[in-house]
Amino acid sequence: MCAKLIDGKKISSKIKDELKTKVAQLKTDGIHPTLAVVLVGEDPASKVYVRNKKRACDYIGIRSLSYELSEKTTEQELLDLVHDLNTREDVHGILVQLPLPGHIDEEKVICDIDPSKDVDGFHPYSVGSLSIGKEGFISCTPAGIMQLLKRSDISIDGKECVVIGRSNIVGKPIGLLLLRENGTVTTCHSRTKDLPEVCRRADILVVAIGKAKYINETFIKKGAVIIDVGMNRDENGKLCGDVDFDACCEVASAITPVPGGVGPMTIAMLMHNCVIAAQRLS
Ligand code: GUN
Repeated sequence: MCAKLIDGKKISSKIKDELKTKVAQLKTDGIHPTLAVVLVGEDPASKVYVRNKKRACDYIGIRSLSYELSEKTTEQELLDLVHDLNTREDVHGILVQLPLPGHIDEEKVICDIDPSKDVDGFHPYSVGSLSIGKEGFISCTPAGIMQLLKRSDISIDGKECVVIGRSNIVGKPIGLLLLRENGTVTTCHSRTKDLPEVCRRADILVVAIGKAKYINETFIKKGAVIIDVGMNRDENGKLCGDVDFDACCEVASAITPVPGGVGPMTIAMLMHNCVIAAQRLS
């Protein structure tokens, strides 16, 4: 028997439709949520991401301002733009697409974004707020995972949650979010001893390691919920996750596919953060 599919495409579409209604209401109150999208250089993957983000804005009715800067842009020029966007009252969210060219210090740029406009949730203030349970922006992929669980009626309270991966963007924040919902959280990484044994404790397993189909059925407890954050290419060049879907689907009770699981949720949550920013700033 195969596990229930957690359909990120469907859930993200529903969220986008809810946001569309909310934005229409905000507009009648004279508030027009606006996201500034900054891209530096010619990275092809970044161009695709930025295009998709702008498309989502168009669909929902969020105004997007596009800043496509040359690869040669200096750090100071980028910081000047960020400072300008920080002070503009008609801009609610600022997104600087990463990675930035090597001569620009990403951390410095992120730190200069006003935390009240940090819709990516990457600013140390946002990360700190999450860790102490204060209001702030939550980075979009972990926020999307929480929505996938909530909207699939999967409870977290008292559950054994195992996260594989400790990145600042996914592993650490999803651990904090699961803890906030009263999960018992274990974070695994490259030095974890006997990874399959630790994973087999999980009622909810979140995998973000970037290794194609690394997690097979020997890592999975019967009835576990699997969230696959991976985005890789398999030996045939086909998109696949960190989890061997066909093998694990036989053991799990619910599982996210790749593509169509966590991926579409990230942009939906970015849009959510923009709407929240506009409400808070207006
Ligand atoms: N590059 C890859 N993913 C992201 C993201 O979520 N936000 C930004 N700003 N850059 C990225």
